Formats: sequence, structure tokens, C-alpha cells
Amino acid sequence: MPQVITNNEDLRQLAMRRAPRAIFDYVDRGSYDETTLRANRADFDAIQLRQRVMIDVDQRSLRTTLVGTDASMPVALAPTGLTGIMHADGEILAARAAQAFGVPFTLSTMSICSIEAVRAAVMQPFWFQFYVMRDRGYAASLVERAKAAQCSALMLTADLQVLGQRHRDLKNGLTVPPRLTLRNLLDIASKPRWALAMLRTPHKSFGNLSDALPAGGKGLSTLSEWIASQFDPTLSWRDVEWVRSLWPGKLIIKGILDPDDARHAVDAGADAIVVSNHGGRQLDGAPSAISVLPRVVDAVGTRTEVLLDSGVRSGQDVLKALALGARGTMIGKAFLYGLGAMGQAGVTTALDLIRKELDVSMALTGTRDVQAVGPQVLWRP
Ligand SMILES: Cc1cc2nc3c(=O)[nH]c(=O)nc-3n(C[C@H](O)[C@H](O)[C@H](O)COP(=O)(O)O)c2cc1C
Repeated sequence: MPQVITNNEDLRQLAMRRAPRAIFDYVDRGSYDETTLRANRADFDAIQLRQRVMIDVDQRSLRTTLVGTDASMPVALAPTGLTGIMHADGEILAARAAQAFGVPFTLSTMSICSIEAVRAAVMQPFWFQFYVMRDRGYAASLVERAKAAQCSALMLTADLQVLGQRHRDLKNGLTVPPRLTLRNLLDIASKPRWALAMLRTPHKSFGNLSDALPAGGKGLSTLSEWIASQFDPTLSWRDVEWVRSLWPGKLIIKGILDPDDARHAVDAGADAIVVSNHGGRQLDGAPSAISVLPRVVDAVGTRTEVLLDSGVRSGQDVLKALALGARGTMIGKAFLYGLGAMGQAGVTTALDLIRKELDVSMALTGTRDVQAVGPQVLWRP
């Protein structure tokens, strides 16, 4: 176990020890052969920053706004399903950490703690991520709940009409709540910190979906089977217009990986888009989000706000994404590792590591204001 936590990988190592194997794998792994998952990291690593010297960088500012929300740095927490199983009450803890840090938090449709439970736990309005399900009445009721909770943006996820297969989840038989097989029991017995906290919390199944779950029980067969039955493969831009008519506030469309789709999203009324391949969890073989970003920015960068996720683990990554035209980034795994490692304090640590890395990297590229970051911070031989 790392003695001193110096980077996100340390949090990942700790989370691996503290969370049950099936949950850790669910967070950590990607779809199919994981080529896209690897490309997300490799392509960030291949970008070089431009070292500049003898520039007064004493006073630096990381402050910005993301989709109308003030942010202490250009990072938001991405929506992640089952966060309340990585750590008991995970969504509430992550939302509190984000609030204290001054960055936006996004609650997933597939969260364990409900919209209302998170609303009751924080003062700062959060963003709500929305999956349009087959039952449009139910989908509309979720939008109403997000409105009632005063969510400050609705984030429509577009890249999960069907689920990309994640081999590990099938092999582990991932269910919610975890199925108590002998193998799981032995694993959980070796994770007492996780198990005790889970025993104490009332939040154990999908908090937003209790009415939509199979009758007679809140447990599911397997997650992938349930998603296959509920998620709607017929989804089209028409449906986005329908969502736009239900939600007058800020609308973010997440899961854009193509300039043509970016144009469609803007035409459909998106206030922002998230360039994303779902963290390498959906179409394996797709390019990394960071490699696609410049073309999407060229296509729509003057007409909408462009955020990016998939592969961001450090402040250097954030700087590179901004240099290539993103206004901000979101982090998924980077905060989940923190959560699995140390609960709320771990999410704060994950954010704090990124803040310090971004701050130092800005200084070493001769940049004082995060809002002034552009291609000038990149090394172009
Ligand atoms: C465990 C996990 C669960 C996720 N669940 C959702 C979800 O419910 N809705 C969604 O829009 N995206 C979901 N995502 C994708 C994230 O919002 C985000 O796009 C991705 O994590 C970014 O890549 P990164 O993990 O490399 O930061 C999930 C990602 C992870 C890792």
C-alpha cells in the first residue's frame, strides 16, 4: 500500500485493496479488448507540453465556469453508475467533496443514492445525467425529479443505446446488490471496511429506478441483462428535441465522438457537449476522446461549449485537453479510485492532486490564467 499518496495511481492501488473485486473491476475495466481504454491513456501521454521559462507566473488562477456553473478549476465529476457500491453512500460523499472543492458534480441515472437523497445532502445544485429509457413516461418523470431537485443542468448520454460488453462484469456476474456467492462472500470478508459501511447504509440499490425495477424485489438479474431490456436502441435526434422541450435549463449532450454528431447536437439545442467514448466502456476500436477533440472543436467550438472526458487522470491531462480546445474536463475513474480508497476524503484527494498538477504545469508552461490556455502550451516540433 502506498505510504504517501502522490498521484491517482496510488488511489487506484488502494481502491483495489478496499473494494470488492467485482466492483473494482466494473470501475477499472473497459469493453471487449480494451483498445479504446488503452488509447485514451496512450494518446494523452503522447502529447507534449511546451516548457517556457523566465515568465512571471507568481499569481495564477484556475477559476473558470463550466456550463454556467462556477468552478474552482476546469474539472467536473462525471456521472457514474453504481457509485454507491464502490463505497457506501458514494454519490453523497462525492457530491459533498465536489461542493467543498467548488467543482460540479453529476449524478447518474444509474446511481445508488437517489436524486432526492443527494439533493438533501448538498446545498450546491448538481447536474443530472439522463438515460432515455424505453418507457418515455418514466423517462419524463426523471426529468421532473431533476427539475424538482433544482439540478443546474441535464446531461443526456447518447452513447449507450446498447451496452458494450465488458468481459469482466460477465465473468464476475456483477449484480446489484452484489450476489452472495461463496466467491463473493470470501472476497467481501476480506474487505471489512467496505462491508461494514454497506451494512449501515439504507442506499443499496438503484435509487432513481425503484419503480422501474422488476416487481417483487429490488435486485436485478445481471446488470447487463437489465440494461438490455430498458435502454432504447431506437433513440434518435428527434428524441433529443423531445427532451429539449421537457427541460428548459442547460442541456449537455455526452458521448459525442464525431464532428457530424457534434453539429447535430448543437442543432438539437445542446448548450454543451462532452467529447467522450464513455471511458473506453462502449465502442471498442473507437479513437480516444483526446484525439478526436480538435476536429470536434473545429466543427462546433464557436457555437457551443465543449467538454471532454475519457482518460483524464492528472492535471497535465487537463492542461492538454484545454490546449486542444476543451473548455473543461470531466473525470470518472480518477474520482472513483479516490472514493474506493478513502470515501469522501479520497475524492477530495483525487481533486486536490489534479489541482496541484494543473497549477504547477501551468506555471512551467508560462501560463497564469487557466482561461488563457491554448495551443501555445503544446510542443509542436
Ligand atoms: C464505473 C463507471 C460507471 C459509469 N456510469 C455512467 C453512467 O451511468 N452514465 C454515463 O453517462 N456515463 C457513465 N460512465 C462514463 C463516465 O461518465 C465518463 O464518461 C468516463 O468515466 C470518462 O472516462 P474516465 O473514466 O477515463 O475518466 C461511467 C464510467 C465508469 C468508470
